[in-house]
Amino acid sequence: MAHHNNIRVSICFLFASSLLSLFAQISSGKEFVLTLNRSNFSDIVTKHNFVVVEFYAPWCGHCMKLAPEYEKAASILSSNDPPVILAKVDANEEKNRELASQFQVQGFPTIKILRNGGKVVQDYKGPREADGIVDYLKKQSGPATTEIKSADDASALIDKNKVVIVGVFPKFSGEEYENFNALADKLRSEYDFSHTLNAKHLPRGESSVTGPVVRLFKPFDELFVDFYDFNMEALSKFVEESSVPIVTVFNNDPSNHPFVVKFFDNPNVKAMMFFNFTVDNADSLKSKFRESAEQYRQQGISFLVGDLEASQGAFQYFGLKENQVPLIVIQHNDGKKFLKTNVEPDHIATWLKAYKDGSVEPFKKSEPIPEVNNESVKVVVADNLQDIVFNSGKNVLLEIYAPWCSHCKKLAPILEEVAVSYQSNPDVIIAKLDATANDIPRDTFDVQGYPTVYFRSASGQISQYDGSRKKEDIIDFIEKNRDKVDQQESVKDEL
Ligand SMILES: *[C@@H]1O[C@H](CO)[C@@H](O)[C@H](O)[C@H]1NC(C)=O
Ligand SMILES: *[C@@H]1O[C@H](CO)[C@@H](O)[C@H](O)[C@H]1NC(C)=O
Ligand SMILES: *[C@@H]1O[C@H](CO)[C@@H](O)[C@H](O)[C@H]1NC(C)=O
Ligand SMILES: *[C@@H]1O[C@H](CO)[C@@H](O)[C@H](O)[C@H]1NC(C)=O
Repeated sequence: MAHHNNIRVSICFLFASSLLSLFAQISSGKEFVLTLNRSNFSDIVTKHNFVVVEFYAPWCGHCMKLAPEYEKAASILSSNDPPVILAKVDANEEKNRELASQFQVQGFPTIKILRNGGKVVQDYKGPREADGIVDYLKKQSGPATTEIKSADDASALIDKNKVVIVGVFPKFSGEEYENFNALADKLRSEYDFSHTLNAKHLPRGESSVTGPVVRLFKPFDELFVDFYDFNMEALSKFVEESSVPIVTVFNNDPSNHPFVVKFFDNPNVKAMMFFNFTVDNADSLKSKFRESAEQYRQQGISFLVGDLEASQGAFQYFGLKENQVPLIVIQHNDGKKFLKTNVEPDHIATWLKAYKDGSVEPFKKSEPIPEVNNESVKVVVADNLQDIVFNSGKNVLLEIYAPWCSHCKKLAPILEEVAVSYQSNPDVIIAKLDATANDIPRDTFDVQGYPTVYFRSASGQISQYDGSRKKEDIIDFIEKNRDKVDQQESVKDEL
């Protein structure tokens, strides 16, 4: 995990952790979820073919919410054949940290499925409530691919809202069949697999198709694709590429959500168009956007259309307003963004081309620059960050905060006092920036939590303040690091 400042976070977590122990005392009776430690982990795992392990932290809210569902699922699955073992590891416990890092646990809860005595490890990608967990794990613990023997089997197994991969074979043996099974085993947590001797059973099936062939059914674009190369690598690549829509749709329909997750997991640049799906020109917006998607999708860009109705979260995240729709926002992995507001269908191709040519300026999320900024702690927003912090020629202490953060609220009056004590000193500025409402240059400021306090001296030395939250210590730090105005003049003269 990233280096957390322990002083900063511990207070908050301690409170949550005592809450959990309250819950733990209330719940009693037989527990079906096994508690594992570094000491007995491998013992339990190597003895079983199928073990599910939740890595949790006592202070994590999502883990607490999952706990009763996980326990209920464990009790239902305790009578499953073959046995499905549900276990948990407290990854926050010092002694278990190594175990957690061995399984690349980066957030909580992280759930892994361990097969074959732990030889095969895969991510749990199922639901978080008891019945969903049970269904998902029953399927995961059964065979990786199911035979289709009739048209009824096919309609039961080929879910119209999902990607389903079917192998058609003249016989259930041979290298192609083996490889298909290996692929199913490898990707079973992400896709449904079936196999059949008779393509006639399949939707739109033809008895002339005898295989070996892999037919991938999908709820979008061309609806199915065939593939004849049974090389493992080629097969995996085929499945990954064919299972992503040309344009991912984000709306309130939950069957689209797995594809949205895939869209965001993907390392490509993301081009997203948001608008009200019920407006008159919705179809022409969609079709023009799709034309561009077809043109650029081999060039490292993924495309999504989002319905305004489902997109409040995205609008908040990007700092967008509803009166800007239809809009296109492009996001790079380094956080750089590009925005085109009030798009007409005919603008789409032109603007995307301009973006590809590098002639579109990046867009920053910013609160409006305050008209009056006369409080002792100055308000910095993305749009005046350059002016106040980088170009003012002043020594600036900048607190990067979030409005919901209690430690920031505690620090506020202290910073206020620091600011007041510098009020008569024009070469020191104490300032604050709301990081939830403004983009910050991530290459300059490394923000892992709130508050993060940076200091930029008049001559441009940037350092992070990691000291105590006492007024005196903050002032000491400023005094040690600031440049006096005359010093700064001489630096300027040298330039
Ligand atoms: C593993 O060890 C821990 C600590 O010794 C214990 O609490 C837990 O019950 C053990 N789990 C099993 C399944 O034996
Ligand atoms: C097992 O886990 C418990 C609770 O997390 C912890 O108190 C104990 O020290 C652990 N024991 C070993 C041997 O790691
Ligand atoms: C979308 O437009 C319809 C009318 O075309 C309107 O009734 C609806 O409120 C709009 N939705 C949003 C989220 O603005
Ligand atoms: C800041 O300016 C506003 C409006 O001009 C005024 O009402 C307020 O008293 C001023 N505050 C301080 C601290 O000077």
